Amino acid sequence: MSLFVTFEGSEGCGKSTQAKALWKKVSRLGIPAVLTHEPGGTTLSKEVRYLLKKQRQGGISPLAELLLFAACRIQLVTEIIRPNLKQGKVIICDRFADSTIAYQGYGRGLDLDTIREINQLATEGIKPDLTILLDIPVEKGLDRKQTKAGDRFETEDIAFHNRVRDGYLKLAADEPERWLVIDATLPKVRIGKIIWQRVSRLLNKHHLSRTPG
Ligand code: TMP
Repeated sequence: MSLFVTFEGSEGCGKSTQAKALWKKVSRLGIPAVLTHEPGGTTLSKEVRYLLKKQRQGGISPLAELLLFAACRIQLVTEIIRPNLKQGKVIICDRFADSTIAYQGYGRGLDLDTIREINQLATEGIKPDLTILLDIPVEKGLDRKQTKAGDRFETEDIAFHNRVRDGYLKLAADEPERWLVIDATLPKVRIGKIIWQRVSRLLNKHHLSRTPG
């Protein structure tokens, strides 16, 4: 049985590092695992990612933004997620549909039910077995990114980022069995251990565990 794990969080929360570390750990056990991310992970999605993140005069309308993320997701689900889940693999995805609810819903203020309908279409109803939220105070996360020139999302105001963070916490509270919320200010190694505790249990449950060889 396959396993689908997603990582979520606001800017600078460290999810990409943890997603990669988890993928390495699972792969080292000889369990077939795929690491991917959103927006990205396919040729089309990489191109659209560039368009979405790039600073531009006049911006992008929130609805156009929503549909561009949905287009990236449909492509990723079609090319990578669905076929690999079908093969019984572990998929680790850095951001997924919950990002759209947090950013375009809570952040931009688009209607949550509309987003859920579009997410349903874009994901073909595929839901993560586990979603790991790396929760970090907004200023701390943005500070971690200060060395790079900010993209269209990173340069949004603090109020936007706080709405995104609060949105994530609401999503996690509404579905506690799917979400694992971790304090992202903890040391990286500690965070890795908390994640592994939960994932190794799920690997067993999904009959995916192997002895290291
Ligand atoms: P990241 O991969 O570096 O986190 O960049 C992706 C950016 O896109 C990040 O600021 C969050 C944003 N985003 C949305 O606004 N909605 C979405 O559905 C997704 C997947 C990402």
